[in-house]
Amino acid sequence: MDHFELKDGMLHAEGVPLARISAEAGTPIYVYSAATIERHVRVFREALAGIDDPLIAFAVKANPNRAVLATLAALGLGADVVSGGELKRALAAGIPAAKIVFSGVGKTAEEMALGLDEGIGQFNLESVAEAEMLSQVATARGVTARVAFRVNPDVDAGTHSKISTGRADDKFGVAYDRAPDAYARAAAMPGIAAVGVAVHIGSQLTDLAPSRAAFERVGALIAALRAAGHAIDSADLGGGLGVPYNPAVPVPPSPADYGAMVREVTAGWDVRLIFEPGRVIVGNAGVMLTRVIRIKEGKNYPFVVLDAGMNDLLRPSLYDAWHNIRAVEPNGAKFVANVVGPICETGDTFARAREMDQVAAGDLVAFMTAGAYGATMANTYNSRGLVPEAMVSGEEWAIVRDRQPIEALIAADRLPPWL
Ligand code: LLP
Repeated sequence: MDHFELKDGMLHAEGVPLARISAEAGTPIYVYSAATIERHVRVFREALAGIDDPLIAFAVKANPNRAVLATLAALGLGADVVSGGELKRALAAGIPAAKIVFSGVGKTAEEMALGLDEGIGQFNLESVAEAEMLSQVATARGVTARVAFRVNPDVDAGTHSKISTGRADDKFGVAYDRAPDAYARAAAMPGIAAVGVAVHIGSQLTDLAPSRAAFERVGALIAALRAAGHAIDSADLGGGLGVPYNPAVPVPPSPADYGAMVREVTAGWDVRLIFEPGRVIVGNAGVMLTRVIRIKEGKNYPFVVLDAGMNDLLRPSLYDAWHNIRAVEPNGAKFVANVVGPICETGDTFARAREMDQVAAGDLVAFMTAGAYGATMANTYNSRGLVPEAMVSGEEWAIVRDRQPIEALIAADRLPPWL
C-alpha cells in the first residue's frame, strides 16, 4: 500500500500532484511520501506484536536521505549502518547512538573508533580478524564494545545473485561451522563482549523458507554457545523482506507472515531481537519522476527516451530489476515500448518491450517503488549532477536534497600544477 494515486486524472503523492513538483523542481527527481513511510513502519511494528521490545534498526543503505531518517527517528526507529558516513547521517538525523548497529565486512579502525566514541549499541562483526581489530581499538579507549558475530548460515535466499549474502561462498559472515570457535576466541579478547548472533541472507526475499532455515540455525547456535558458557542476549535477524514491484507476479510474504514465522522460530530464545528492514520500509514510499525527452523510432518498438538515466536509477541495469512505469497523466491508451535513458550505453535501458501507458514527448513518467536503493545508488556518470529528492506530507512538499549543479562537479576536480 502506498499513497501514490490518480486523482482527477493525475498521479499524486498524497495531496500533491506530481506535475506541481516537476514544474518547480524539474526532472528527474525522487519524490517520497512521508505517510507511506509512516504506514510501513506501523505495519512492520504491528507484525512484530508479541515480541518483547524488538529493536527495529532501519537499514540506512536503502535510503540515507536525512529527511527520511529524521522521519524514522521521530517514529522511534534505530539504524543499521555500514560505514562511518551512514553512522554520521543516522546521528545527524536524530537516531540515538544506543539504537545503532554497525554492520559490514570492511569496517576500518577509524570507523570502529567513531562508533565507540559515539557509544553505538552494537557492532556486528564478520570475522575473527575484525574482532581483533575492534578489541585493540576498544582497549585503547578503555571501553568494552557489545558485539555480535554475523554468521553465514549457508542458505540460498533464492533472490538475485548479486543481493544474496548467505551462501557459503559469499563474502559475508563467519562460516556457520566456525562460529563456535570465533566466539571462543572473542571471549579471550579484551574490549569486546560477544553477546549477540546476527544473520542476513539477502534482499528482496520473496519466500520465507530460506529465512526460516537461517533463523533455525541461529537458534541452534545460540543454544550451543550458551552451553559453551557464552552469555548471549541478542539476536539480529537482518533485513531482506521483499516488496511488490510487479503487479503481475505473486506478492511477497507480508510483514505479518514474516512476523508470525519469526515468533514461531524464536519462541524460547530469550534474547532481544533486532531487525534491519530497509526496502520494506521505504521501497513503496518513493517514485522517480522523469520526463519523456522524445519518442524515437525503433525496429520493433518505439524507444521512450527519458531525462533519467541508469545513473539516476541503477537497479534495472544492475539487477535487471523491474519497476512499474506509469504515465503521470495517463490518457487511457497503452502501447509497447522500450524505455531508455540518455546515457551512452545499452545498459541504460529501463524496460524492453514493456506494455505501458502510452506517452509522448514532454509527458511525465513515474517509476514506482523507487524509494529503496534508488537515489542512494545514483551517480554522476556522463557528467550528470546527482538527482534531487523531494518529500511530500499531506498537502505540503519540500526539496530534501538539491539537484547537484554541474558546476559543483567541475569545481570538485583539481588541476595538477603542471597543467
Ligand atoms: N542488513 C544487512 C546486513 C544488509 O546487508 C541489508 C541489505 C539489509 C539489512 C537491508 O535489506 P533489505 O531489508 O533492504 O532487503 N541494492 C540492492 C539491495 C542491496 C541490499 C544490501 N543489503 C537492490 O537495489 O536491490
